[in-house]
Amino acid sequence: MRPVDLRTPRLVLDEPTLADADLVTAYCQDPLFERYLTTPWPYARADAEAFLGTYVPDSWASGAELTWAIRASEGGALLGMISVREAQHELGYWMGAAHRGSGFMSEAALAVAEWVLGGGIRGARSLMWRAVEGNLASARVARAVGFRRIEPTDPTVPTRDGGTLPAWHAVRTSPVDPEAHASWASILGGP
Ligand SMILES: CC(C)(COP(=O)(O)OP(=O)(O)OC[C@H]1O[C@@H](n2cnc3c(N)ncnc32)[C@H](O)[C@@H]1OP(=O)(O)O)[C@@H](O)C(=O)NCCC(=O)NCCS
Repeated sequence: MRPVDLRTPRLVLDEPTLADADLVTAYCQDPLFERYLTTPWPYARADAEAFLGTYVPDSWASGAELTWAIRASEGGALLGMISVREAQHELGYWMGAAHRGSGFMSEAALAVAEWVLGGGIRGARSLMWRAVEGNLASARVARAVGFRRIEPTDPTVPTRDGGTLPAWHAVRTSPVDPEAHASWASILGGP
C-alpha cells in the first residue's frame, strides 16, 4: 500500500522518515515504554534508523503494518507514533512524554480508526486494541475512540522477551457500539 496522509483539526499524520530518528531515539528512552511497549530496551539510535529506514517503508509496502508520525503541522516535529497491524487490525500508539495530556492521541487514534473502518483497509470491519493491565492512559484513549472492552479467552499481550503479561482487550466497530463507553466502568469508573 502507498503511504496515506491523514489530517485532524490539530494534527497531521504522515509517514515517519529517517529525519525523525533523533526524536524517536529520545522518546523511546521513556521507562513507560519498557513497561508497556515491545520497543527495544535499551533503545539505541540504530534501532530508530532500522525502524524508520527499513521497517516502516517495507511494512507500508507489504501492508503488514501502517505507521504514521503524529505532527502538529505539515513538516513539523514528531510528537508521537500510531500504527495499525494487519494481523487482527490492531491499533498501537505512543506519544512523546512532553506532548501527553492534550488529547492529541485520542484525536489521532480516532482519525486512524475512522479511516481503517471507513474503507482505508479493504474488508476491515473491526479494530483491535490491547494494553498491559494497568495502562490507564492507554485505556482512556481507547475509550475516547469508541472501543468496547471484551473478555477474550486469552487475556494477555506478548512482551518483548517472548513472554506474556495480563492485558485488557477491546474492539472498535463502525458505528460505535452503544455499550462501548460503559464497558470501561470497572477500570476507569463512570459514567
Ligand atoms: C497512552 C498515551 C499514548 C496517551 O497519550 P496522551 O497524549 O496523554 O493521550 P490524550 O491526551 O489523548 O489523553 C487521553 C486520556 O488519557 C488521560 N491520561 C493521560 N495521561 C494519563 C495518565 N498518566 N494516567 C491516567 N490517565 C491519563 C487523559 O486525561 C485523557 O483522558 P480522558 O479522555 O478520559 O479525559 C501516552 O500516555 C503514552 O505514550 N504512554 C506510553 C506508551 C503506551 O503506553 N502506549 C500504549 C500502549 S497500549
